[in-house]
Amino acid sequence: MPDQWLIPGSALCVEGSGFILWDKRYNMAMNQNTQIALVTGASSGIGSAIAKSLIEAGFTVIGAGRNMDALQMLSGQLGEPFVPLLLDVNDSDSVATLFDRLCPQYHQIDVLVNNAGHDVGGRRRFDQGDTEQWVNIIETNVSGVIRVTRRIIGGMINRGNGHIVNMGSVAGLHGYASGSIYSASKHAIHGFSESLRLDYVGMGIRVTEILPGLVKTRFAANRFSHEIDNEEKAEAFYQSFNSWLNPEDVARTVVFSLQQPENVTISQLVVVPG
Ligand SMILES: NC(=O)c1ccc[n+]([C@@H]2O[C@H](COP(=O)([O-])OP(=O)(O)OC[C@H]3O[C@@H](n4cnc5c(N)ncnc54)[C@H](OP(=O)(O)O)[C@@H]3O)[C@@H](O)[C@H]2O)c1
Repeated sequence: MPDQWLIPGSALCVEGSGFILWDKRYNMAMNQNTQIALVTGASSGIGSAIAKSLIEAGFTVIGAGRNMDALQMLSGQLGEPFVPLLLDVNDSDSVATLFDRLCPQYHQIDVLVNNAGHDVGGRRRFDQGDTEQWVNIIETNVSGVIRVTRRIIGGMINRGNGHIVNMGSVAGLHGYASGSIYSASKHAIHGFSESLRLDYVGMGIRVTEILPGLVKTRFAANRFSHEIDNEEKAEAFYQSFNSWLNPEDVARTVVFSLQQPENVTISQLVVVPG
């Protein structure tokens, strides 16, 4: 495993304090026989809220992202059921070695929430955007979801049990001006989710796509990160709408989707402000 993915004391079964920490978590996870959910993009916004709601619903949550400081801070708030995992969905090695950074007791992932995503460099007319930024949106929002899902799904198939939740968007239903690439990425998630669901019907694996409208998070500030006044621009963007969702509103829909009886699949859930 490349060294950059090794974070002693966090997501490793190593000797020393990290081991004690994980041993404690092991006991808790095993004693409570909790289900395990992997949430990508757990370091911020909707992903953090999903992690919190799932823990409240009794899950152990592996919270994945690139920002270990943010994940550790969340771990301090959410306690032992939250397991931080360094993961860059854009990096094939990082995804391929994902299980190497998790203690064996966390290898059985019952629920995968593909939430990581961004629109960095977006909200610009297509010809005015930067090609590398456009490609990075597709790389994260689409290829990242493919990579992580492909890495996780084998275990679900072997066990005949699992639930994959993909974070789509209303931008996956309708295009809009200055949204060509973000909308394209979420249209891809829309098609992927529906087709994936049909691939595994009758095999114990359910697939749900959540399609939120506007949610107030760091998303807009990150989108405008190429501009010096990105924070002000992001705030002005949100204020230009009458209302918006909070991350907790989206998290509630994820928990709702997971709590359905075995014969029920929420295939798509559109949630908008108002
Ligand atoms: N906000 C909205 O209005 C809205 C509406 C509909 C759908 N969505 C979708 O909801 C999801 C979450 O967005 P948000 O609003 O919560 O935005 P956010 O606050 O900016 O959070 C985005 C998350 O994605 C993670 N991420 C980005 N690139 C990553 C990578 N390469 N590898 C791993 N993690 C990565 C970030 O983690 P690090 O940067 O810390 O690694 C962060 O945790 C996205 O898929 C977005 O498209 C958002």
